[in-house]
Amino acid sequence: MRHFLSLKDYEKSEILEILSLARDIKRDLKANKSTRPLAGKSLAMIFEKSSTRTRVSFEVGAAQLGMRPIFLSSRDIQLGRGEPMKDTARVISRMVDMVMIRTFAHSRLEEFAAYSSAPVINGLSDDFHPAQLMADYMTMRELGCGDRPIVAWVGDGNNMANSWLMLASKMGFELRVAAPKGYEIAQKWVELAKDFALKSGAKLYFYNDPIKAVQDANVVATDVWTSMGREEENEKRLKDFGGFGVTSELMSRADRKAILLHCLPAHRGEEITDEAFESHADSIFLEAENRLHAQKGVMVWLSDAQKRQS
Ligand code: CP
Ligand code: NVA
Repeated sequence: MRHFLSLKDYEKSEILEILSLARDIKRDLKANKSTRPLAGKSLAMIFEKSSTRTRVSFEVGAAQLGMRPIFLSSRDIQLGRGEPMKDTARVISRMVDMVMIRTFAHSRLEEFAAYSSAPVINGLSDDFHPAQLMADYMTMRELGCGDRPIVAWVGDGNNMANSWLMLASKMGFELRVAAPKGYEIAQKWVELAKDFALKSGAKLYFYNDPIKAVQDANVVATDVWTSMGREEENEKRLKDFGGFGVTSELMSRADRKAILLHCLPAHRGEEITDEAFESHADSIFLEAENRLHAQKGVMVWLSDAQKRQS
């Protein structure tokens, strides 16, 4: 059974299929043409971390496709009181048709998927945020960044950075990652991405200097310096990330038409200045909206994949 845990498990052609579904779904929604391809089905949404965008976009997206979304906070379900992931998976997946999970260790998601009889979607783990990346890719295509853009990642080597690395190495575009020393992307993901790049032709560069990464880039992307679950490191990170904030000055080194992406929530005055944020608010909020459309593409694709297999 296919799950959607990381783009590392997806072929370029499959990512393009999802994107194409998402585009059609968005077009139909904007034209008020309602199609409910997943009518009568249900989606369990398990959250072990906070969320605004992921919760709303999956809940509304599932409903628009005809599914019944069920929001399950780990604070309320037995999982939060220590019921094992593998038991939770075997119970919930017998009752619903698809499961979205936001959790800590990526291995928790993999464990759930291994025991689940329904497709599982990653709604963010410590390692990856692939649903966000589908929206980011959709946004940069809509904004005319081309098939082979130069993307600069400025900031933490976190779940978002890992996900950009997977997307770039699968799709074959240029990614330049700038992270402070000690916060680089884990070597195992770099090695994996280099393998993928042999096939796709992606160019991958790693720096400790944001200016080098951003020079003439078509897309600049960033994210918070302290991800969920790492709050106790916040003070140290604020010091260690000095000079890594995205400012208008940094953006002026990118291509004249460069877009700025931020998965949100943003911490103004840390990874991004208010001025840089507000002058690129159009791309950032289009990116947020595209979560809805891109994830509907993912859900329809997974359901189709299941039908093909049965
Ligand atoms: N970008 C994102 O996943 O936002 P939330 O944490 O609000 O879901
Ligand atoms: N890297 C951030 C992304 C939030 C959407 C986190 O994991 O908290």
